[in-house]
Amino acid sequence: MIKVMGLKKYYGEKLILDIPNFTFEKGKIYSVIGKNGAGKSTLIKILSGIVSLDEGKLEIERENTILSPQEPMFFKGDVWYNLTEPFKLCKKKISTDKLEKLLKKFEIDYLKKASINSLSGGEKAKVQFIRTVLYEKDCIFLDEPTASIDKKSSFLVEEILLELKKMGKLIVIITHDHDQARRISDTLLEIDEAKLLKRGT
Ligand SMILES: Nc1ncnc2c1ncn2[C@@H]1O[C@H](COP(=O)(O)OP(=O)(O)OP(=O)(O)O)[C@@H](O)[C@H]1O
Ligand SMILES: [Mg+2]
Repeated sequence: MIKVMGLKKYYGEKLILDIPNFTFEKGKIYSVIGKNGAGKSTLIKILSGIVSLDEGKLEIERENTILSPQEPMFFKGDVWYNLTEPFKLCKKKISTDKLEKLLKKFEIDYLKKASINSLSGGEKAKVQFIRTVLYEKDCIFLDEPTASIDKKSSFLVEEILLELKKMGKLIVIITHDHDQARRISDTLLEIDEAKLLKRGT
């Protein structure tokens, strides 16, 4: 569970977020929509602890969260290295069987030895999504994970998110795809004029 209390975030004079009270519950998917510059990425960066808040409080188990940022970040190296090295660094054992299955599912297993820089935008997004899943965290924050991914693979992402939800994970996903938001979310949220508004359940 994540509790947001009296959160305010400014950039300069501009109030970006003003959220008096909101609770994110375990085992639920929250979709966040809103126009460009609305403050969606800022919100999940605050939840992840990358960006500080100016006022208010958060109740959150930080070590149990993972953020998949809007702009993917990788190590120099091949796909396999990018899907194994991060876990070595944080001393997490991952199942190579699970990794192999995910690569096959997204039809990028043949790219294992390819340099990450040679991948297309969508292929990189798939690698980033797989890496996010492998962390096996309880709270998963995804910033437009399917923006550059084809339809078939987007549905695969949705399917996996629904499975993770069934396992009790809390998922916050930012998307501009309103149909996707309606398909998968328990709660549809919109950031509008700094407010976090419930648009449906
Ligand atoms: N580090 C920063 N310094 C100053 N302003 C910032 C900073 N980061 C974001 N902003 C501003 O805050 C506002 C919200 O940005 P944010 O990235 O959260 O938007 P967003 O809703 O994710 O938009 P998009 O749909 O384009 O990804 C924007 O106007 C942006 O220019
Ligand atoms: Mg954004």
